[in-house]
Amino acid sequence: MGYKVLLVGSGGREHALAWRLVQSPLCDHLLVAPGNPGIEALGRGMGQGRVTLAKIATEAIADLVALGKREAVDLVVCGPEVPLMAGLGDACQAAGLRCFGPSRKAAEIEGSKQFAKEIMTRAGVPTAAYGAFSDVAAADAFIDAQPGDLVVKADGLCAGKGVVVTASHDEAKRAVRTMLVERAFGEAGGRVVIEERLGGREVSMMALCDGTRFVLLASAEDHKTVLDGDRGPNTGGMGAYSPSPLVDEALTEQIARTIFAPLLAALADAGRPFRGLLYGGLMLSPERGPTVIEWNCRFGDPETQAVLLRLGEDLLPWLLDAASGELPMRLLEWLPGLAVCVVLAAEGYPGKVRGGDRIAGLGDDGQLPGAGGDLVVFHAGTKRGDGGLLTSGGRVLGVTAYGGNLEEARERVYAGIGRIGWPGMHYRKDIGLRGKS
Ligand code: AMP
Ligand code: GLY
Repeated sequence: MGYKVLLVGSGGREHALAWRLVQSPLCDHLLVAPGNPGIEALGRGMGQGRVTLAKIATEAIADLVALGKREAVDLVVCGPEVPLMAGLGDACQAAGLRCFGPSRKAAEIEGSKQFAKEIMTRAGVPTAAYGAFSDVAAADAFIDAQPGDLVVKADGLCAGKGVVVTASHDEAKRAVRTMLVERAFGEAGGRVVIEERLGGREVSMMALCDGTRFVLLASAEDHKTVLDGDRGPNTGGMGAYSPSPLVDEALTEQIARTIFAPLLAALADAGRPFRGLLYGGLMLSPERGPTVIEWNCRFGDPETQAVLLRLGEDLLPWLLDAASGELPMRLLEWLPGLAVCVVLAAEGYPGKVRGGDRIAGLGDDGQLPGAGGDLVVFHAGTKRGDGGLLTSGGRVLGVTAYGGNLEEARERVYAGIGRIGWPGMHYRKDIGLRGKS
């Protein structure tokens, strides 16, 4: 008897998870709420598994749980952070559904930057020095007392947009005012965390956690800004590659020992055991070594697309075991090469975008005709319309390729992109080249 899985979400990250799950010989049926056209096509295009989309919004917790109960699913997997912060994990538990995703209290590691800072301090996890303020005068006094440049962050969830990296104390004070006085990020900015600005390269480390134990996934590097050369405004992520050449075995061990292990233990001690995917955004500071700049309570997007393309074994047993609190003590298997994901964005992104442009180049299954398993087009902001596949959102597609090395993966990914197009499409040409130029 195979398993029935309910996956929550509709982005490129969820397409990558769904792509993996339908390949599992253990997965009989994958339900996705609400999914996207790329996910829907997995049911037919690849001829594997059965995939059904349910028209339920990711925030409709009660409806999601009701669907899971009605369909008697064996596992709920949640992509985005918002449902987790709204209590999806707790609601599943109350309903007797096994969920790969933390409780609301554990998800606070992402939902409240102040909580994350406090628990890291308690656990001795290396992180930037900080202060938390809801009062402008107190924030100003703190800023004046700092020797170096600062980063100002809205305390709550703001879809990755509530962070201002500043180059002067005046700029930091202006950012504080934008958040605390003008409420540019609404209630999420009712409190700000001000922290020292660290130098170094950034890596994304994700771990499957079962409440007490964890296993790290392969490292990745996100490319957050919209333009080549890490210029322009920040976005949700314009591309990623995995593994990062910066994270060797010794550094992986150090990150596990000094960051993930003490944090998970502290969360469990605080009565908030973390079951699900824990994602650390780490700065590899030349002076201090790996230092946490953010925690997320869910898979990274677009890192997941690159990381999962390299996974050399079935993902489903790992998610089931983590969700059951029974993670096995072994490492995951990875393909030896490298994976690159390049995000194709709509005109205007990360600002206001236009939707409804017809996407040329993809087949009925939403994939590049003739592509093999080492070139996958993950859908994020797409929808089906009269003209076929249309854009619907800022990040539209995540073209992801595997290669024996970086050059091969990049060649494959950009050759694929050359066959896709719509008016105003833009993307970065330098994904994976960081540190090489
Ligand atoms: P976040 O939304 O927390 O990922 O922050 C957005 C970006 O701001 C990060 O990817 C970093 O590049 C940068 N950032 C955040 N905190 C710091 C810090 N303490 N020092 C330097 N850069 C930071
Ligand atoms: N790629 C950054 C994130 O998922 O938060």
